[in-house]
Amino acid sequence: MTKSVFEFGTNGLPPPQSDGRLDAPAFHRNHEAIWQAIAAFLPEKSGAVLEIGSGTGQHAVTYARRSPQLTWWPSDMTPSHLASIEAWRAASGLANLRAPQHIDLMEPDWRWSGDAAADDTLAAVLCFNVIHISPWRVAQNLFAGAARILGDGGHLLLYGPYKRDGAHTAPSNAEFDASLRARNPEWGVRDIADVTGLAQSNGMTLAKIIEMPANNLVLAFERH
Ligand SMILES: C[S@@+](CC[C@H](N)C(=O)[O-])C[C@H]1O[C@@H](n2cnc3c(N)ncnc32)[C@H](O)[C@@H]1O
Repeated sequence: MTKSVFEFGTNGLPPPQSDGRLDAPAFHRNHEAIWQAIAAFLPEKSGAVLEIGSGTGQHAVTYARRSPQLTWWPSDMTPSHLASIEAWRAASGLANLRAPQHIDLMEPDWRWSGDAAADDTLAAVLCFNVIHISPWRVAQNLFAGAARILGDGGHLLLYGPYKRDGAHTAPSNAEFDASLRARNPEWGVRDIADVTGLAQSNGMTLAKIIEMPANNLVLAFERH
């Protein structure tokens, strides 16, 4: 089955009644498996987690609820997504979930606002389903920026479809890749080797590859 790029709806609410919360059907299918994969890379006691390209905000809200010891910083660059993240945050009432910030990975010197907060050591940067729907420049800026802001031992955790050794891992991923490239020639499913090359040139190593449902992977990179 071909994966769509954005599958966001409005919880069945017509726009005038909607508070801005968007719903991604894929979230309901993937959030549990993603949590099982990433939780081991998050601190047990305290720390901050920055999510880039948070989309609806549903992952950030769900994971912040599960880890009250961590401070969660969602972000995106799309106004309707920023509004959705804020609406989910407001509805959640979670004290450890910060307001969404605008981060556009096309900007080489992107920053996050959490570094001004006294107690926040950035333990992890999460980026799910973003680098294949963006120019390669976005992946380059993601790794360069993560290397700038993560502390030693911090993790960059990616989720999505990837090629291995130049080959797709499933026909559905090949079909998805073709649809992405048809939409924008600069988009496309990335190869693990290329992404790992970015990590190495930014002082990071690939710590683990975790197989996920629906031919997706979690790639866990560690900052040295
Ligand atoms: C397919 S959605 C994934 C959303 C969410 N991470 C998830 O997995 O459900 C891609 C998200 O990346 C965001 N995005 C695209 N290009 C970006 C960029 N250059 N910088 C930051 N976010 C970007 C989009 O606005 C969108 O919210």
